[in-house]
Amino acid sequence: MDIGLEVKTDELTEEAKKVLLKNIVGAFTKPAPELYPHQWNWDAGFIAIGYAHFNIDQAESELRHLFSGQWANGMLPHIVFNPAGDNQYFPGIDFWETWRSFDAPEQVQTSGISNPAVHAFALQRMYELAEDKGRALNFVQEMYPKIKAFHAYLYRERDPQQEGLVYIRHPWESGNDNSPTWDIPLEKIDFNKVKVPPFTRKDLNTSDADHRPTHLDYDRYIYLIDVFRKGDYKEDQIYRLTPFAVQDPLFNTILIRANEAMIELGEMIGENTSDFREWNTKAVLAMNSKLWNPSNALYDAYDLISNERIPMEASSGLMPLFAGIPSQTQADAIVKVLKGKMFAGAGGESYYLCPSFTPTSPKFDTKKYWRGPVWINMNWMLYHGLKRYGFDEEAVAIKNDSIELLSRYGFYEYFEPKRNATGQTPGYGSHQFSWSAALYLDLLSI
Ligand code: SER
Repeated sequence: MDIGLEVKTDELTEEAKKVLLKNIVGAFTKPAPELYPHQWNWDAGFIAIGYAHFNIDQAESELRHLFSGQWANGMLPHIVFNPAGDNQYFPGIDFWETWRSFDAPEQVQTSGISNPAVHAFALQRMYELAEDKGRALNFVQEMYPKIKAFHAYLYRERDPQQEGLVYIRHPWESGNDNSPTWDIPLEKIDFNKVKVPPFTRKDLNTSDADHRPTHLDYDRYIYLIDVFRKGDYKEDQIYRLTPFAVQDPLFNTILIRANEAMIELGEMIGENTSDFREWNTKAVLAMNSKLWNPSNALYDAYDLISNERIPMEASSGLMPLFAGIPSQTQADAIVKVLKGKMFAGAGGESYYLCPSFTPTSPKFDTKKYWRGPVWINMNWMLYHGLKRYGFDEEAVAIKNDSIELLSRYGFYEYFEPKRNATGQTPGYGSHQFSWSAALYLDLLSI
């Protein structure tokens, strides 16, 4: 591999496996040793992909454990709690009050919001890598109805105008939690008129405040949870009450790519795949008619409360490549944006691909959660998206940047995007971050 840095892939592979195994808590793997003591939803999908390379029992266990928290209405919560870790993380079991919902499971404690639907393509990757295809097929059969119930929930409960686009009702549902994209809708919450319940953050006990969301961000996050619990987690009630309802191009892209995986897996096991086909036909059209923005060649987000586009300056706007949503002409334009000043940089400024938010914005912050740093899971999706349209060279550039960052700084949660950054510039957020390790294992093999 020629990335101008000698990468000892064997050593790093062993280290990546160790990171994952050390983060195991019973049946699942926590995202990080201290900051995240529970099981997180989309983390579990990426983590399962990593385990599929060396420990299929654990890969299956990740998805089984996650879906043990699935609600009766199909919602797959963004956290399945580990009661033993409850005192380390806020908002914990008691704060969510999910007992208010008739749909929440009784035996398993969960949050009351969801996360991107990565599970079908994680399952597909597990099948591809499996040596024992018979066992892998049984697992596909086991998971299939559960994943279908989750996608059905999203299209039933999160698409009020039946447009083919689902909405998120909390920034944490996007996975890009603290992206400046959400500042615009969140600024509309007026704390002169509404109150935040009292709370104490715990994330700053183990993380640098410079890398984490501000207190105002947290007030907004917590206020939204309060709205949901007061609405007893009834979706129709929440939709009437929530000040935050956004169609996110990344969330929808992941769902569309997951529908594709369900079509392929469904054909393999003789399931009827017509729902997934119908969802995707409608969704791809809607992505291109409602969210595509030809003036900057990115996909915007859309605020359903104010009925306005949210101009996209985050890498989420490039991500529809991953699900084959743009035409080749649109894809050509998107790749120009990726390689131009908006993400790769220009002049004296050069960035590792791909910054999570554009360095051209005053809101760009190289260290802060989702406001600039490079994330390995986004790069993994972007790699596949670029390959899909024949941009092999660009895909390899993304892969090499990812491997360079991981080998230079270690398995951090997110990374400094400036190539010429001086001084001590380690990764940011948590160290020994599970999906960085898991996707390193997969990146080496693709
Ligand atoms: N990732 C969020 C956090 O920072 C919640 O899902 O706690």
